Order: sequence, then C-alpha cells, then structure tokens
Amino acid sequence: MQILVIGANGYVGARLYQDLKKEFGDVIGTFNSHQLFKELIHLDVTKPAQVDAVVIQTKPEVIVNVVSNPSSAWCAEHPAEAEALNVGGAKNVLTAANRVNAKLVYISSRSALHPNDVYGKTKLEAQEISKGAKAGWLIIQPGHVIGLSPNVDNERFFNNTMKDFRDKGETVADNSGALAPTWIGHISEVVATSIKKGICSETLQPVSPVLKTRFEMANDMFSGFDVKVVPKDDHLLSTKVQPDDSALKRLSLPTHSYEEMIAKIRDEIRRSGALEKN
Ligand SMILES: NC(=O)c1ccc[n+]([C@@H]2O[C@H](COP(=O)([O-])OP(=O)(O)OC[C@H]3O[C@@H](n4cnc5c(N)ncnc54)[C@H](OP(=O)(O)O)[C@@H]3O)[C@@H](O)[C@H]2O)c1
Repeated sequence: MQILVIGANGYVGARLYQDLKKEFGDVIGTFNSHQLFKELIHLDVTKPAQVDAVVIQTKPEVIVNVVSNPSSAWCAEHPAEAEALNVGGAKNVLTAANRVNAKLVYISSRSALHPNDVYGKTKLEAQEISKGAKAGWLIIQPGHVIGLSPNVDNERFFNNTMKDFRDKGETVADNSGALAPTWIGHISEVVATSIKKGICSETLQPVSPVLKTRFEMANDMFSGFDVKVVPKDDHLLSTKVQPDDSALKRLSLPTHSYEEMIAKIRDEIRRSGALEKN
C-alpha cells in the first residue's frame, strides 16, 4: 500500500513517517523547509500545482496530512497566514487526493473541539474540508503530544525539555493548566491500525483519559533520570473538554492508560541513550 505523508519532517510527522515506514514499507514523505531525511520530497502545501504534481506522481492510496503551524500564539499574530497554511493547505491536499482517489487522514487537534482561537478555528475548518475525500477520511485529534521523535529540534514541549536537560540538567514546567496527554507513538499506532482495518469516517482521539499539567507529565517521564523538573505557575486554564478514547475502544484500536504511555516513553528515552552522560 502506497502512503504519502505530507509534513514528514516535523515533530509529529517525522515519528509518524518513521513508524508507518516500519509498518508498511511503501511510504513517501514530504518536507517544506527542512529536509530531515534525505529521501523526502519538497512540497509547499500552499502551492496547489505543487501538491497536484506530487500526488499525481506518487499516486498514493492513503495521504496523511500532518501540516499546520501548530503554534496558537503564531496563528493569533498571523491570522491570514495561518488560514492560508492550515486551511488553504488542507483544501489543496483534498483536491489532489480526489484527483487520484486517495483516502485522506488529517492530523487535527483537540483544539478543534473548543475552537476559541485562530489555531483551533483553522483546525476545525481543515477537518471539515478533509471530510470531502471521496475515497474516505479519518480525523485524528491528538492532545498535548509528548515522546521521542526523530525531529529533536522543533520547538515542542518534549524537545525543549530534553534540550534543557542536555544544556543545564533541569527544566521548569507549568503546574497550573491541565492538558490531555498523547504519546507520540500512539498517533502512529492509531493511524496504522485504522489504515489496516480500512476504518473511515471516524474522528479519533489518541489520548490517555486523564488531564495532567506539563510539570506532572515531565516529572512522570523523567523521574529517576539524573535531571530535575521544577514547577512554575503560569496561571493557565485547564482544558475544558475531557479526553475521550471511547471511539478507539469501540473500534478495537490501541488504547493506553496514562501509566502505560509514561512507561513507553521512559523506555524509549532509556533505549535512545539521549540522557546518558558522556
Ligand atoms: N505537537 C502537539 O502537541 C500537537 C497536538 C495536537 C495536534 N498537533 C498537530 O500535529 C501536526 C504537526 O505538529 P507538530 O507539533 O509536529 O509541529 P511542527 O513540528 O511545527 O510540524 C509542522 C509541519 O508542517 C510543515 N509545514 C509548515 N509549512 C508548510 C508548508 N507551507 N508546506 C508544507 N509543509 C509545511 C512543516 O515542515 P517545514 O518545517 O519543512 O516547514 C512540518 O513538517 C499539526 O497539524 C498540529 O496541529 C500537534
């Protein structure tokens, strides 16, 4: 089965690309500005002709669209650019998917469940657009994604925490706003198993059914390693919508308790040797 991952170089996309490649073999990935793996093809999703050309050339059965600017702050400051990338890009991918009759998997966000800012609104719009895929669609709504990715540089919470540990042996993390944690590998498991089972027309949350602050997540992931996590109070609001993995259970897709996902992340950190002292 030929799979095309659009945005295979980002924090979430690189892990998804790597995991799907292990699972299916026949996976092609794209990058926009940073070619993380040498085999990735260049593609700017805001350019419809480029999207058409890559999709027609690769003729995938499934397209996984991971592209967005995921920063709420950036989207709020640049609403027109956020709309052009997050929504315009999704439209271009949909048009191309329908040209080759490909199924479309859209990596959305739980922010689309309570769209109270530009980021959440663009994710909701892009979700609805992606449902126009004639061969079938799947919407994936991760929560706050944590865990190891081949992309260790993008400014995401987990990567920044690891950088702090490497640079100074400690990090500071908010302990006021509770979020729904998602293990990065769980996204890959849910996408891969859904593709294998031919699951379509579903909106799925690869989450553990708890709410945790960033301090709690960091403390749980890194306790026992030779690093320190210090709590701070950023007076953040907790997420209003409870994480819900009932659709995963109904469809017999992989689920993980919070304790299981933390154990998996700790194991991956240990095996990577990323926190070992030289
Ligand atoms: N991280 C989280 O906690 C989280 C939670 C929920 C949902 N998500 C969703 O997961 C997806 C990936 O987020 P992330 O955290 O992995 O962020 P990221 O590392 O910033 O990844 C963003 C991806 O979008 C690509 N991209 C940006 N502009 C593009 C363009 N014009 N054309 C083609 N590709 C372009 C980037 O490629 P270049 O770097 O090459 O430009 C990169 O591959 C997003 O859709 C986000 O909404 C993330």
